[in-house]
Amino acid sequence: MPKRHRIQFPPADVRELCQDEVYFYLLDGDSKEKIRLHDYERIFDVPGLYEQVVYERLKCQSPTTVVDVLRSSVAQCQQGINELRVLDLGAGNGVVGEELKKQGVSRLVGVDIIPEAQAATERDRPGVYDAFYVMDFCSLNDDDRDELKLWSFDCLISVAALGFGDIPALAFLEAFNMVGKDGFVAFNVKETFLDRSDDSGFSQLVRELIFSEYLDLHHLERYRHRFSIEGNPLYYFALGGKKIADVPHSFMDSVDLSE
Ligand SMILES: C[S@@+](CC[C@H](N)C(=O)[O-])C[C@H]1O[C@@H](n2cnc3c(N)ncnc32)[C@H](O)[C@@H]1O
Repeated sequence: MPKRHRIQFPPADVRELCQDEVYFYLLDGDSKEKIRLHDYERIFDVPGLYEQVVYERLKCQSPTTVVDVLRSSVAQCQQGINELRVLDLGAGNGVVGEELKKQGVSRLVGVDIIPEAQAATERDRPGVYDAFYVMDFCSLNDDDRDELKLWSFDCLISVAALGFGDIPALAFLEAFNMVGKDGFVAFNVKETFLDRSDDSGFSQLVRELIFSEYLDLHHLERYRHRFSIEGNPLYYFALGGKKIADVPHSFMDSVDLSE
């Protein structure tokens, strides 16, 4: 059992921050450390801190929700989730992997851009992934691609990692194209990403993709991802579907893939 941490959220008058600027304090004896909620390097270094802040205090329910959406999408094709060879993009410290492992997936590979995620996964959830790579999907080289292709993925899952300064559209497309034809895809996005008023690259990509000939949408669910630090519910969509074909890069010529 990791040690319990003393956590303090900032006072109400300084809380009006963007989702990727939000912070909390970690109290330890006389020290008071300010940590941004998106400072994953620091958070994953402290065993149990991510789980205590995100899952206990902010009541994040995305891993279970997106895994359920994946199961529903797979079941619609009379297949079982336990047959899948899954790529978990933005795996963090392995919470989603643990959820998938409970379902008994056939192969499970995690990828994250920071080494602290891999170290935390191996420290806190050893054996959950068959392999865990530290890679930036925006700049894979041919050796990385060859290595990943050996896993013959037929499923991509990405939870709480897309957009918002985390995984940009280009990296998502690279991962999508790594999944074989007739494979499955499940991920979540902030609810505004499906709204035409949001013109960020990621939002455009998601809207184009779900109405495209590259993906058959099987399941779309609006749900409470978690609470904000102010205590307001943050709604996301969880999407699940079947991949029909690779997305050519020309598909997104009009979109800024760096967002
Ligand atoms: C909010 S955490 C989510 C972790 C995990 N999926 C979960 O639901 O608990 C987002 C993760 O995405 C990772 N990430 C951000 N940009 C990335 C990129 N370009 N490629 C791979 N991982 C990335 C971060 O390092 C972080 O671990």
